[in-house]
Amino acid sequence: MENKVSELYTTIAEVYDKRYDTDSARAEDRWAADFIQPQGTLLDVGCGTGWTLDNRVTQVELYRGIDPSEGMCRELKRKHPTAFVETAFYESWHVQHPTALYDTVLSSFGSPSYIDPLFIPTLVQHARRQVVLMHYMDGYLPDIHSELTAPTGKEASRRAAIDLVAGFGGEVQHIGAFQVVRILVER
Ligand SMILES: C[S@@+](CC[C@H](N)C(=O)[O-])C[C@H]1O[C@@H](n2cnc3c(N)ncnc32)[C@H](O)[C@@H]1O
Repeated sequence: MENKVSELYTTIAEVYDKRYDTDSARAEDRWAADFIQPQGTLLDVGCGTGWTLDNRVTQVELYRGIDPSEGMCRELKRKHPTAFVETAFYESWHVQHPTALYDTVLSSFGSPSYIDPLFIPTLVQHARRQVVLMHYMDGYLPDIHSELTAPTGKEASRRAAIDLVAGFGGEVQHIGAFQVVRILVER
């Protein structure tokens, strides 16, 4: 089942990649792909049309994606037929898989801003080594949202990521409209 945000992404899924086919977006892609430094298995939360695989951040055998938008998942599968992708909201996926563990947990280019702030700390439970989160900066909203109000809790979700860096250790960077954090997890 979808909600307003995921339905919106489904309506633009087939043209989503084209929107970011610009020099500045490609420069951000390269920066982010270098920053992530994935290790081992990777859980891609809000995987969208497969930015992570398109940019060779990880290999398809090590990859697991989740996203509530049927259209975005369909596009990912069209480009990467062997990739494992589940159509699900992170919040319900977490409740159903409380002990699932991956070396890297990633949520790229705005996806964590849609996650309920109360669930942001739970991302750490799924990571053996690191969590990398790219939240929208406060006040920024992608243009596709013109017909929606801001995702509820967006700023609180971003601040929750900063709190995790303070608690676990890691780093905070900024690129374009995004706050990028790495949270270090030792198990
Ligand atoms: C801006 S797109 C980013 C997609 C991809 N991470 C990328 O880097 O291109 C945001 C994605 O977050 C997904 N999303 C929205 N709510 C979500 C939730 N509660 N849990 C997981 N993903 C969600 C949307 O369906 C959409 O595909």
